[in-house]
Amino acid sequence: MIEKPSLAAYLDPLHSAPFETTVGAREAELGKTRETAGRGLRLRPGSGIMNAPSQSLRGLDLAAEIDRLRKERNAVILAHYYQTPQIQDLADFVGDSLDLSRKAASTTADVIAFCGVRFMAETAKILSPEKIVVLPDMNAGCSLEDSCPPDQFKAFREAHPDHIALTYINCSAAVKALSDIIVTSSSAEIILSQIPKEQKIIFGPDKNLGGYLARKTGRDMLLWPGVCIVHEAFSETELLKLKARHPGAPVLAHPECPPHILDHADLVGSTRAILDYALSSPSEVMIVATEPHIMHQMEKAAPHKTFIGAPGADGNCNCNMCPYMALNTMEKLYLALRDLEPRIELDEDLRLAAKKSLDRMLEMAGRTVGQGDVGRPVITGD
Ligand code: 13P
Ligand code: SF4
Repeated sequence: MIEKPSLAAYLDPLHSAPFETTVGAREAELGKTRETAGRGLRLRPGSGIMNAPSQSLRGLDLAAEIDRLRKERNAVILAHYYQTPQIQDLADFVGDSLDLSRKAASTTADVIAFCGVRFMAETAKILSPEKIVVLPDMNAGCSLEDSCPPDQFKAFREAHPDHIALTYINCSAAVKALSDIIVTSSSAEIILSQIPKEQKIIFGPDKNLGGYLARKTGRDMLLWPGVCIVHEAFSETELLKLKARHPGAPVLAHPECPPHILDHADLVGSTRAILDYALSSPSEVMIVATEPHIMHQMEKAAPHKTFIGAPGADGNCNCNMCPYMALNTMEKLYLALRDLEPRIELDEDLRLAAKKSLDRMLEMAGRTVGQGDVGRPVITGD
């Protein structure tokens, strides 16, 4: 069943009821349907969620094959910190959403193999249209993108003509095209500080990031009611138990976490900021409240320190693994480089419209935040 957010959801900035939606035009194009409801993720059978190894690829040295194809194709492999350690280790560049956007805009490679989720690969295509951009699994979406169908976002904007739309990068190209300025978690504050105080703002689709920014800066923003299913799953009760077992261990949290988790955080920041803090802090033990694959970079760069994933309601952090990011595997990356599919394609008018809000982000973010790849030399690959 498709249940749209009620009008009350538009009018009440803190409306928080989960709702179901299909992904909309983008998925319709692909002939696929996905439903998200609060924390659930259901993909139709055969969509790749099981990630079973394919018979025909058994026996292949995938890392060596990927390396060979990367050179043959003049490809650059970009990976987000939420990818598996194997993928992070063979990537040319690992970074947060802002770093990855910058890298995608500046690379001279012919092919970008994007190991992240679809909105990230779309961003790469928007910024580098002449390049072939492949995403190992086209089903790698995002609950935030799903929460914000373009037609409903358009109606929301039309209902608030005196507001500008400051929009989190975790959204579709169509929503970017309807926005004024895109932000990432590492650039949101610096961008917000450049917008006149009296300017009214719509912030979507992440109500947790928006709420955090509103509390921190004192700006009164109208929030779209989307959430990240991964960061929503942390348990405050379990976090407090963990803190009691590790007195003094700082809690590092992503702003996609709900306020009851952020209230206990010593640092709130993007994946990149969390990584910087973890490596520069004198603390030997730290609690990490974001997707646990980021701890791979921490453990590599600071093996003498202990990093503990913040728990979900069942007392472990398994429910905090992003099911969308997990769709990308070594096999699918190999196939994507071999076949140059699945490929991101965008209508040119849509791309140009979406590029405006992304370009504003890149201009306004300046060079005040990280460059990616903590703890390892940057291999440019281009
Ligand atoms: P950043 O890496 O920009 O902090 O984003 C986190 C995230 O959830 C990406 O989907
Ligand atoms: Fe989306 Fe959350 Fe997964 Fe990031 S971690 S891709 S915000 S569902």
